[in-house]
Formats: sequence, structure tokens, C-alpha cells
Amino acid sequence: MTSFSKEKNKFVVTTPIYYVNDLPHIGSAYTTIAADVVARFHRLRGDAVLMVTGTDEHGQKIQRTAEALGRSPQAHCDEIAAGFALLWEKLNIQRDRFIRTTSPRHEAIVREFFQRVWDAGDIYLGQQQGWYCVSCEEFKEERDLLPGKHCPLHPNKAVEWRDEKNYFFRLSKYQTALEALYQSQPNFIQPESRRNEVLSFVSQGLQDFSISRVNLEWGIPLPVDPDHTIYVWFDALLNYVTASVEPDQEPTLDNAVWWPVSLHLIGKDILRFHAVYWPAMLMSAGLPLPGRVFGHGFLTKDGQKMSKSLGNIIDPFDLVQRYNSDAIRYYFLKEIEFGRDGDFNETRFVNILNADLANDLGNLLNRVLKLAHKNCGGKVPGIEGDRPPLDESFEATGKHLGEVVAQAYENLAFDQACNAVLSVVRAGNKYVDEQAPWTLFKQGNQDGAERVIYTVLETARLAAYLLSPIVPDLSTRIYRQLGFNIDFNQLQPSLTTPFSVHSSWGALQAGQPLASPQPVFQRLELPEP
Ligand code: MSP
Repeated sequence: MTSFSKEKNKFVVTTPIYYVNDLPHIGSAYTTIAADVVARFHRLRGDAVLMVTGTDEHGQKIQRTAEALGRSPQAHCDEIAAGFALLWEKLNIQRDRFIRTTSPRHEAIVREFFQRVWDAGDIYLGQQQGWYCVSCEEFKEERDLLPGKHCPLHPNKAVEWRDEKNYFFRLSKYQTALEALYQSQPNFIQPESRRNEVLSFVSQGLQDFSISRVNLEWGIPLPVDPDHTIYVWFDALLNYVTASVEPDQEPTLDNAVWWPVSLHLIGKDILRFHAVYWPAMLMSAGLPLPGRVFGHGFLTKDGQKMSKSLGNIIDPFDLVQRYNSDAIRYYFLKEIEFGRDGDFNETRFVNILNADLANDLGNLLNRVLKLAHKNCGGKVPGIEGDRPPLDESFEATGKHLGEVVAQAYENLAFDQACNAVLSVVRAGNKYVDEQAPWTLFKQGNQDGAERVIYTVLETARLAAYLLSPIVPDLSTRIYRQLGFNIDFNQLQPSLTTPFSVHSSWGALQAGQPLASPQPVFQRLELPEP
């Protein structure tokens, strides 16, 4: 039984599941916002969408964190997982699944998957010697370490020497199959720079990796040897399959009706796990592969890496409390090219939001709404009849905007989507200034003035619709002012806003009553120094 109808396109997007060693930071919020935006875009288009996130709760790192805090690992996980769920609410994330790796349903999936890989003959017992970074939960090559045997990603943490019996996964067996995958599906890993990183890594020759740990209780026992627990990554990656089973169905691989995932969104530091280990594990278990893996960049604060020791961590709870979720969502997606590293600077944050959303978009709507109330009976003016278009080129830009922006969302080029919309909004403001409809009304040119008003209202509507995956609250306010009874947070897309109609020029109907003008986006203020 599937919950999506056969006629609809299925679209599944995932975030990494976050370690619960600490409350979420702005990096976790970044990926989750992006995934939510992609999911909302697909819902807008009428696709059957599943948006998946969750928490990664097993392994040494979590066990040690809980011990240091004097808590049981499960109590610790429960508390932090609740913190993630709360932040997602505050950031207006519409998640369909929240997978916790300590849930019995997930454990059942991991065990079944392990058994399949075992039955395929791809797991064997061997000796693992090497340097282990607990913060990465990963063995490191000695040549990659910093002086003093410190991990390059966690320079304040020394790696630990391990020499123990582990079970290994035969990754080396999948070298040729993986290379064939990257060749036949050039978009499997994006962006291009990350794909190249993976190709170069794989071309050096793949080595089997250990997938069990001894002396670690906080994990899922190996079905074939209970003295071992399953390595946290071999457990965590399976969350994507667990999520693919409907919650009221038995957790089995056969019931994973939403599998395979269309898009895994991840940060660049966990690319290897998703683009190399994961497809090989799936091949071994005989499951289909995900559609694509996109590795985004890292966020810095005022140009510096964020870290607790530098004391420059941005607390997403604090940010969303002081500003609003639309503002945070817009800043990260508009300001940073998805795939590259990007910076958070609070002054810039406030300036961009005020310029784009309060001034350009908010004022555009506000100034013509006032005119429409004064001169057009508070209704959307008509455009029928033989009124000549005042500016065909302006309208023509509006006509193509929907296609350009949809393509940008498809490509995860969120900054391009925002810029394309904003440039039409700016053109709208210029157009009002040039056409001066207030003068046209005074001169008795009612038709001409109404034509301008319609054009501008329609521009604001189209902008609101196309930005709605990013700023759903703002878009809802704009749509309400334009007389629609539509909430972008509660969409029934195919019924209320068919994409082909609302993403095109001209969806605003003449005669529709307009609500009274109110500022749609309050200007943001920087805190007092
Ligand atoms: N638990 C693993 C993922 C398992 S997925 C099967 C993990 N968790 S994490 O909490 O450490 O990181 C989660 C994500 O946050 C990663 O994609 C990582 O790239 C991202 N970020 C961590 N710090 C970041 C920034 N400063 N900026 C942007 N993203 C960052 O890895």
C-alpha cells in the first residue's frame, strides 16, 4: 500500500541525520532549510513529496557525551532530539519523517539490511589497525593528520589508536560498479567540484572498511556476533530506508515504498559516505540507488570557521527568536550559492532582508494597493478590452519568470531563483515610477492607470508565488492582500494553486476584492551595540 497516487511524480528529499552530541547549530539548520525549500517547491508542483530528517544517536561520540554529562545515553538522546524537533518547528520546516536511529523500527531495518549484505558474502572478520577520530566517527589515514596526531576537521581533538578485530564490508569489490555508476549518471554527485573529489578518491583504489566495533555498547548488536555493535555509519545511512516505510506498515525492506530517495542533501564533509560507501552498500543488498547526492558548502561567521572554542557559534534558536523564520531562510538561500562556502554577517543579514523583502517587494505591493483602493474600488482592475499594453517587454519578462525560477529550483540554484524574482520586482518598482499611475488617474486616463496597477499587482503575486518555498509566511500575507484565501503552509497544490496557472503571468483575476494594505514584511533592526 502506498500513500501516493500513481499519477503523481514521487519526490523524496533527505537531510543528513544530525548527531545528538549537542543542540543544533546553524549548519544543521542550513541543510534542513534547503531540503524544506526543495520539498515545498515539489509540493507546489503537485508532486507526491516525502521530506526526511532525523537524529543520529548511536556510537562512541554520543556515548561519551552522555557519560560526561552524567546521563544515560537514551535520556541524553531524547532531550537533544526534542531540541532538533523544536527548532524545525520554529524554522517552519515541513518534515514528513523524523527518524531516530534508536527507534526499534529503524533497528529492524538495519538488522535486515545487514543480513542481506552478509548473505551476499560481503562481510568478513578482520583486524583493524588505525587512527580513529571519535568526532568524525571515522578512521583517518596517518598522512592526513595534523601534527600531534590531530584530526584536520577537529584540530583540537587527538585521534585514538585502535587495534582490534572488526567485521569489514567488501567495498573494494564495488570499485568497477561505482566507476560505471559515476560515468553513466554524471549528475549522481553534484556539484561538479564534489564529483571530481569523489572520482579522484575512487581512482586511488577503494579499500574495505570496518563496520563493527567492540567494547562499545551504545549501538545495534551485530546479528551474527553480539560481542560487536554495528558501526554508527552503517547504521545511520539506513535511516533513509527506514523513512521510506509508511509508519503504519511493518518495518521491512520490502515495505520501503518510497525508496529510492530522489535527492540526498549533505554537507561536503560527509560526501564519501554518501557517494561511495552508501551506493556500494545498496548494490550489495540489491536495492536501487538514490537519484542524486548534493554536497553543499560550509558556513562561516564573519569570515571565520564557527567553533565553540572561538566562541562564534550562531545559535539558531536565538536567531529565529530575534528575527523570523522567513528572514533566516531567505538570507541563507539568497546570499550563498548552494554548493559553495558562505558567510553569516548580521549587518549584512539585516540589510539584505530590509532591501529585498521590506523595501523592494513589500513596498511594490503596498504602493499600488493603496492606489487600487483609492481609484479602483478596492478590486483588481480589469485588463480586458482594447487597452494597449503599456510595456510589452516588462510583461514578457514576467511571462518567462516561472520557467526560469522553476529551473533554478530544480538545479538547487536558490540564489538564482531569488535574484531572478527580485530583478522583476525591481523592474516593477521602476515601472511604477516611470508610468506614474497617480498622474494617469489625475489626467483621467483610467484605463492606462489600471493597466499599470494590474501589471504591478500581478508582478507582486508572481513573485510571492515563486518565492513561497523560501518565504512561505510572507507569500501567504501577500496572497491574502491580493484577495486569495491561500496559505502556503497548508497547501493542497493541485486544488488551490495549480502550478501551471500560478507560476505564469496573468493568474490574478480582474474584479477580485483586495484586502486593505498592510506592511507585509516588518523592517528588521540590528540589536543595540
Ligand atoms: N550524523 C552524521 C550524518 C549521518 S547521515 C546518514 C553527521 N552529523 S553532523 O551533525 O555532524 O553533521 C550534519 C550535517 O551538518 C553535515 O552535512 C555537515 O556537513 C553539516 N554541517 C556541520 N557544520 C556545518 C557548517 N558550519 N556549515 C554547514 N554545514 C555544516 O555528520
